[in-house]
Amino acid sequence: MATLYDEVGGSEFFVRLVDRFYEGVVQDDVLWPLYPDHADLAGARERLTLFLIQYWGGPTTYSDERGHPRLRQRHFPFAIGELERDRWMLHMQAAVDECATDPNIHAQLTEYMTNAAQHMINR
Ligand code: HEM
Repeated sequence: MATLYDEVGGSEFFVRLVDRFYEGVVQDDVLWPLYPDHADLAGARERLTLFLIQYWGGPTTYSDERGHPRLRQRHFPFAIGELERDRWMLHMQAAVDECATDPNIHAQLTEYMTNAAQHMINR
């Protein structure tokens, strides 16, 4: 069965999605202060891109480089409450709206991102 990764045409889709997402994040007065290394925007972009590619059935480069995702654990250093979740989702939804033109792909990404953002709340 074709994965969502295949259906969207591979890695390029996720690069565009994450680029669009980070355009919002860097201008966000709640989220951007949480980022530990503002100079490493390219690195942060790449980690999220590779994670999403792996999650949706593409190459496993993320885990080859970073090990098991353990995303909740990796986010513990950042105080994430409902406000942070909402801001994260605002930018991610804008990116999904712009990049996912197919309604089925749009629905799958929206559902996953909504649940994942909720799951990351730790304060
Ligand atoms: C809900 C609010 C969220 C906030 C405020 C947040 C914030 C952050 C911050 C500050 C980082 C460090 C940046 C870096 O990698 O240098 C990070 C990393 C990361 N985030 Fe989030 N995040 C959120 C939700 C999510 C969700 C829902 C996902 C997945 C769908 C995700 C995936 C990732 C990944 C893959 C990394 C890199 C982890 C690593 O390999 O070190 N984040 N996040």
